[in-house]
Amino acid sequence: MQNFVYSIPTTVYFGKGQIENLPKAIKAYGSKVLMVYGGGSIKKSGLYDTIMGLCKDNGISVVELSGVDPNPRVESVNEGVRLCRENGVEVVLGVGGGSSLDCAKTIAACVDCDCDAWDVVTKKVVPEKILPVVTVLTLAATGSEMDTFAVISNMKEGEKLGVGYPDMRPKASIMDPTYTFSVSKYQTASGTADIMSHLMETYFTMDGDTAVQDGIIEGLLKVCIKYGPIALAKPDDYDARANLMWAGSLAINDLTRWGKATTWSCHSMEHQLSAYYDVTHGVGLAILTPAWMEHILSDKTLPKFVDFGVNVWGIDKNLDAYEIAHKAIDMLRDFFTNTMGIAKDLPEIGIKDEENFDIMAEKAAKGLKTAFVPLSKEDVIAIYRACK
Ligand code: NZQ
Ligand code: ZN
Repeated sequence: MQNFVYSIPTTVYFGKGQIENLPKAIKAYGSKVLMVYGGGSIKKSGLYDTIMGLCKDNGISVVELSGVDPNPRVESVNEGVRLCRENGVEVVLGVGGGSSLDCAKTIAACVDCDCDAWDVVTKKVVPEKILPVVTVLTLAATGSEMDTFAVISNMKEGEKLGVGYPDMRPKASIMDPTYTFSVSKYQTASGTADIMSHLMETYFTMDGDTAVQDGIIEGLLKVCIKYGPIALAKPDDYDARANLMWAGSLAINDLTRWGKATTWSCHSMEHQLSAYYDVTHGVGLAILTPAWMEHILSDKTLPKFVDFGVNVWGIDKNLDAYEIAHKAIDMLRDFFTNTMGIAKDLPEIGIKDEENFDIMAEKAAKGLKTAFVPLSKEDVIAIYRACK
């Protein structure tokens, strides 16, 4: 296991009614807030009114940035930065799913930089000071409520890139599972696939004996496999929503990643799909992951797939090792498509030609030389093709 420093300083207020702690969480850092949210789900659910009431009652002034798109755009970040500067904002509050939270975190990182937000996302400019971020999560998926990252799209450039600094990790996050009761079946399935992908990206490494991390990952994957279908069938099942929500945070808050080297192959390939076709993140991952697994399965990677098959999917350990591996991949694909109802391939989400595969693969492969199995541009094209 590699050396690491354990530090996850986000204060999590988890459970029903925890929103009452929001004023306290904000006021530890200031009383002028930029509230960043999406296309209206929080108005429909009443959460918007609750937050506005709490802020008013506690002397917190609120400036708003609404309409953040799924796959948040750099234009929204620039607009948020402008609002922060004009209004002397002290705290950025993200309310919603990963897109609103990522937008809030990137705004916080850009406020002090005298440049376009895209220069921060592309790391041309490194922020020296980042405004404190507080979040209220309404969708279990990305783990943005507890991690240091944000992913921002620039549709003009055909780019979707991640940016992360330790101070982008939210100072506090309100996580009330009842807020996720209204999440659609489509987004519930996509979010579950995203959580599972974060776990699998971290699980499949060649990095020595990391039994603690791998055991936690196997346990969290089983949580998703158990509770994802329950949340689909019964959207207001509190335990299902609570377990998915907490699994989503732990999957990516560094708990399972520290101590091992990870390079995320499926995320790199998926971000290109989103950049070129505006694909829902978790859907792209669910389509790509089984194809990636088939592509990288070899004598060298086989033992990890056997662990995955036996410990996560409960496959008989006495079977032939390759049979276990193939069965595990088939069970994963079947879970995504038949149990969770996610599209089975790229044509089903409207990607029928190969027009952009070459440029997408070139961009995706750039960072994948150090992956679990290093992938070349040709490998990535082959994986995209296997999804057709
Ligand atoms: O915009 P609103 O009206 O809020 O509606 C959203 C949106 O349409 C809706 N929604 C959210 N909460 C809801 C709800 N609808 C009903 N009831 C609720 N309680 O769901 C739709 C999708 O929301 P979005 O925030 O886009 O989803 P998600 O949380 O999956 O976030 C996806 C984004 O996060 C990035 C993805 O690439 C993508 O851009 N990621 C961020 C990561 C991170 N910060 O570490 C890591 C991930 O791997 C991922 O890349
Ligand atoms: Zn993800």
